[in-house]
Amino acid sequence: MADPPGYPRELERDVVLRDGTEVQVRPIRPEDAPRLVAAYDKLSAHSAYQRFFSAMRRLPPNWARFLATVDYRRRLALIAERPSGEEMELLGVARYEASHDDAPEVALVILDAWQNRGLGTALFQALLEAAEARGIRKFRAWVLADNMRMLDLIQRHGDVVERRRDGAVFELIFAPRTAISGRPAPAPASA
Ligand SMILES: CC(C)(COP(=O)(O)OP(=O)(O)OC[C@H]1O[C@@H](n2cnc3c(N)ncnc32)[C@H](O)[C@@H]1OP(=O)(O)O)[C@@H](O)C(=O)NCCC(=O)NCCS
Repeated sequence: MADPPGYPRELERDVVLRDGTEVQVRPIRPEDAPRLVAAYDKLSAHSAYQRFFSAMRRLPPNWARFLATVDYRRRLALIAERPSGEEMELLGVARYEASHDDAPEVALVILDAWQNRGLGTALFQALLEAAEARGIRKFRAWVLADNMRMLDLIQRHGDVVERRRDGAVFELIFAPRTAISGRPAPAPASA
């Protein structure tokens, strides 16, 4: 299968979850669109609402096509998957989308059966590192005020620099503390 234009193969990696399960992380491809629709069908209404803030019966195929077709720079999505029989099972997606300013919008969703196993954290970290390599220094996230897991995830990986509340939704602007930017500066070379 030919790579789509700009496909960053260097972002493909294997991740071992806390319980030892191995999953594969890779940038999304346009042909993943039907799998996004199928994964949405498996999401609980609660998780779907936390991600999309609306109660859609199905993820519209044209929206799935848009979500699966990214330029890998201004718009990037990483998926986690693992073999299941003959197929690969999609377990979660982390993405950022260009917005009107220099703070792209970040969003995550993990299938319910895979939540609370460290996968959201792993995908979020991988996304933040990829973003840093692309010069992105801050993000925006819209998070329901009662979504403690997502708020906790953001606070553990970033410094929230702005926070606005609009009804039940927080709009957060945060600067990620990624592995690369968090690394201590190299010691000066000795004379
Ligand atoms: C939010 C979400 C992406 C997190 O992914 P996940 O794989 O479940 O998260 P992880 O297992 O990596 O980590 C969750 C962390 O939240 C913490 N947490 C869990 N429940 C919590 C709660 N009620 N309050 C505070 N923290 C909580 C856990 O301690 C865990 O931290 P740990 O890794 O130190 O144990 C996932 O649950 C999800 O897809 N939810 C539905 C969609 C959604 O909310 N998307 C966000 C929209 S931007």
